[in-house]
Amino acid sequence: MSALFSPMKIGNVEVPNRFVNSATHECMAKETGEVSDELVKRYERLSKGGVGLIITGLMFVHPTGRGYKYQTGIHSDSMIQGLKRLVDSVHQAGGRIAFQLAHGGRQTTKDMIGGQTPLAPSSRGRDPMNFVKPKEMTEEEILEIIKAFGAAAKRAVKAGADGIQLHGAHGYLINEFISPFFNIRTDSWGGSDEKRFRFLKEIYQEARKVVPDSFPILVKLNTNDYTPKEGITPSLAATYSGWMAELGVDAVEVSCGATNYSYMNMCRGNVPTAELVKGLSWWEKPIGRLMIGKLEGKYDLEEGYNLEAAKKVKPVIGDIPLLLVGGMRTVSHMEEVLENNFADFISMSRPFIREPFLVNKIKDNKMDKVSCVSCNRCLAAVPNELPVYCYNKGFPK
Ligand SMILES: Cc1cc2nc3c(=O)[nH]c(=O)nc-3n(C[C@H](O)[C@H](O)[C@H](O)COP(=O)(O)O)c2cc1C
Repeated sequence: MSALFSPMKIGNVEVPNRFVNSATHECMAKETGEVSDELVKRYERLSKGGVGLIITGLMFVHPTGRGYKYQTGIHSDSMIQGLKRLVDSVHQAGGRIAFQLAHGGRQTTKDMIGGQTPLAPSSRGRDPMNFVKPKEMTEEEILEIIKAFGAAAKRAVKAGADGIQLHGAHGYLINEFISPFFNIRTDSWGGSDEKRFRFLKEIYQEARKVVPDSFPILVKLNTNDYTPKEGITPSLAATYSGWMAELGVDAVEVSCGATNYSYMNMCRGNVPTAELVKGLSWWEKPIGRLMIGKLEGKYDLEEGYNLEAAKKVKPVIGDIPLLLVGGMRTVSHMEEVLENNFADFISMSRPFIREPFLVNKIKDNKMDKVSCVSCNRCLAAVPNELPVYCYNKGFPK
């Protein structure tokens, strides 16, 4: 029996195989942030497809942390009912689901958060994508957001979720705090690796206080920010992972990039310029075409492009499961990764968008390579506010 199909626990949850649906923004919630029928269907389908654990797309924990129009919210008790319906349908279909909790930090717009200036640890520079200069958070604001993560964790438990994942990657608020590029504070929230880590540490502790014992709390972490000046590197990610292990984090997922300074690293493959600029205004389009066009051909897919970084993190976290995401495409390679103990779970996003029944197909020995070609049209759907589907055959007019 392939190592891919041996069960493993994350916290108190037994995952029946080693496949994880990595968090993928669905763009399917109602404008209020409530769960929609389309969202429920997406995860029902994935559960029936055999994936061991589903991690949802990023859910905003606070109104200032919203990044997208059709993003799922977990910022208010009024969301719980819909979230419970989502969880129940996954459970009925035989799946397990963890909610990804996030705050968008500086990577949002004023319009998205009720006219306020986006929040960040430091007001460093104008954002290269949304052109906003963020507001440096006050101590009071920091504590409010930590509490909001805790309240969201409690809602996840009330909704019956099997776990939560703190989104510490891709340039959002937690990533910004732990990155020496984004966080240039000199108070007790910045100035050293320990102080920069404090925000994530307190969020974890706040969440841990309100969830049942052994309720899985995972963290997704960048092992490389790829920012213009040094942010998180594999060695810093290893340091943070060691600290997370000491705190009691139940699993670490290693990713990279996707800050607004390093958008394409997270999703190596084709750069779909035409689709990415489609949603821009008439005056932004030529600039967008020029800037994004320069990226074309520079991000060809490499199988398992976060593997080398994962090898640095794995020895530091001991028995805590490591989830490896990014370009995992060939079944024999996935097996090799597990057999060599480089990672414990194979996490994928784009392949599941194209083939929700992927795991069952692999189980039935029907394939050695997923059919996703990393054209990244699904990624381009995000700025176009289109629901997440495989648009390989064409992008809607
Ligand atoms: C359409 C789309 C939406 C995504 N949304 C999220 C998200 O909400 N949270 C997150 O942590 N990563 C998100 N990602 C990144 C994926 O989880 C994953 O890290 C990345 O796609 C690389 O894995 P892959 O090669 O298997 O696609 C998204 C990726 C895509 C393509």
